[in-house]
Amino acid sequence: MKMRAAVLERFGEPLVVQDVEIAGPKEGEALVRVVACGVCHTDLYTASGADPSGYAPCVLGHEGAGVVEEVGPGVTSVQPGDHVVTLFSPECGRCEHCTSGKTNICTAIRAQQGQGYLPDGTPRLSRGGEPLRHFMGTSTFAEYTVMPEIALAKIPAEASLEASSLLACGATTGLAAALWKAEVAAGSTVAVFGAGLVGLGAIAGAKLRGAERIFAVDLSDGRLDLARRYGATDVLRADQAPVDRILEATGGMGADYTFEATGRVDVMGQAVEAARMGWGLCTVLGVAGKGETLAIVPRLLITGRRVQGGSFGGAKGRTHVPQLVDLYLKGDLDLDGFVSHRMPLDDVNRAFELMEEQDGIRSVLVFDGSAGGAS
Ligand SMILES: NC(=O)c1ccc[n+]([C@@H]2O[C@H](COP(=O)([O-])OP(=O)(O)OC[C@H]3O[C@@H](n4cnc5c(N)ncnc54)[C@H](O)[C@@H]3O)[C@@H](O)[C@H]2O)c1
Ligand SMILES: [Zn+2]
Ligand SMILES: [Zn+2]
Repeated sequence: MKMRAAVLERFGEPLVVQDVEIAGPKEGEALVRVVACGVCHTDLYTASGADPSGYAPCVLGHEGAGVVEEVGPGVTSVQPGDHVVTLFSPECGRCEHCTSGKTNICTAIRAQQGQGYLPDGTPRLSRGGEPLRHFMGTSTFAEYTVMPEIALAKIPAEASLEASSLLACGATTGLAAALWKAEVAAGSTVAVFGAGLVGLGAIAGAKLRGAERIFAVDLSDGRLDLARRYGATDVLRADQAPVDRILEATGGMGADYTFEATGRVDVMGQAVEAARMGWGLCTVLGVAGKGETLAIVPRLLITGRRVQGGSFGGAKGRTHVPQLVDLYLKGDLDLDGFVSHRMPLDDVNRAFELMEEQDGIRSVLVFDGSAGGAS
């Protein structure tokens, strides 16, 4: 079938929206009509050529949500009509990692996914008879995608797909890190460095967990205002010695939990320093530049601080994303407030520009024709 998709033809150049072919689902796969797709830093990072594991040409996009249209043989967990969030991090429930209960890094389809193929080692995308590779196992900057059922989280049909798309990456990363990876305790003190979608998610997650005091650190006053809206009790400017101020405010001790959501290694170091002696837990979420390393004074670890990280915030997509949608439907989680711009697929490069200008939290591509142009 023919469809419109945004293709990364060459690194460092704008995406080209064009017709491509998509084949039907094979064994264990489903065809999904994409309804909404957030535009995330990882898409831009790959498009720029900075990601050493990136490849072109391919169809970018990974923050998708849509409706299952057709399923291949053997598919049991989704059926046509189901609403789903696309997962770049699958959950097979059967591999050594999934059954360990210790990690969300499912190994079932990792090797082929990393090369741009579906689990059988071939793509479903093509143009002019030539194969075209998938991206992150998702390729949701397109009207349709074919994905393995283990990479689709089924969600209630009454939830907005626009809001739910943000749970495919950014929002879940921060939320899951606070809720399940760090398991923020009620009554505790939390510090979040960076108040983009990931950091705001961590703030919202810490609030849901009943944290008593939540410090938010950012360079932008606008983002700090949003941080307050999502639950921060104290906002700190990043250029005004935030670590010193967190230590002063906690009797010299530091926060029980810290989260880094900037992608800057110097800020990761600050998040470690701001964690409390004895038991402070620092969770690193940002993706650093190629070749960058994080330096930590060992004394900080010997005196009891711990450091962890989490792809997708440690979320097990098929288990946790539906739980987050339930929180959204109950009114306990404001996902709509993260959607700053809505636009059609044709404006995908404009979404990248808005991200570079740090204009808004997330731009969402909508495929039903209801978004007239970049707002
Ligand atoms: N772990 C994962 O699986 C995962 C998933 C999605 C995104 N990420 C990464 O998480 C990071 C954040 O993503 P985002 O979408 O929220 O990005 P974003 O750019 O929207 O937010 C980053 C925020 O950090 C702030 N910032 C910059 N310098 C700072 C400083 N010195 N101190 C404090 N704040 C500072 C910026 O003002 C901005 O508000 C990125 O590195 C992204 O690649 C990781
Ligand atoms: Zn698995
Ligand atoms: Zn992402």
